[in-house]
Amino acid sequence: MKKVCFVCLGNICRSPMAEFVMKSLLDGRNWIVESRATSNWEMGNPIHKGTQGILNKYQIAYDSHKGSQQISQAELEEFDYILAMDEQNLADLRQLASPEQANKIHLLLDESVPDPWYTGDFEETYSLVRAGCQAWIEKIEGGN
Ligand code: 4NP
Repeated sequence: MKKVCFVCLGNICRSPMAEFVMKSLLDGRNWIVESRATSNWEMGNPIHKGTQGILNKYQIAYDSHKGSQQISQAELEEFDYILAMDEQNLADLRQLASPEQANKIHLLLDESVPDPWYTGDFEETYSLVRAGCQAWIEKIEGGN
């Protein structure tokens, strides 16, 4: 069973969007999919209204009670794929990880996903996140 964790700064905008978009694309695959923050800034806070709006608009099921959690050492060990939304998330995760764990940490896309906390553009986030999730399903199933 593949275990995938999406990571952003706050775990309220981008990474929960990726978590639930990915779950919607699994199509019967028995994977564990989660999302976490690099920071503890939003700890316990719910998914941002902008992300909830996108998930509702595209009829993607999500846990409306999900609260932000910072990634732990145990989780860096546990997941097979740790997918960062931007270059800063990637750098922060690499600082937290052992060299071996660092091999599992990748950018979701070749480009950073702009943070809608600052841009306000949750549609842009959605199209990038969706493209990234589709690409990672293929990469993971291809065995890379
Ligand atoms: P996220 O967005 O990393 O996509 O969840 C942010 C959420 C909160 C903050 C920054 C980005 N913040 O500064 O609290």
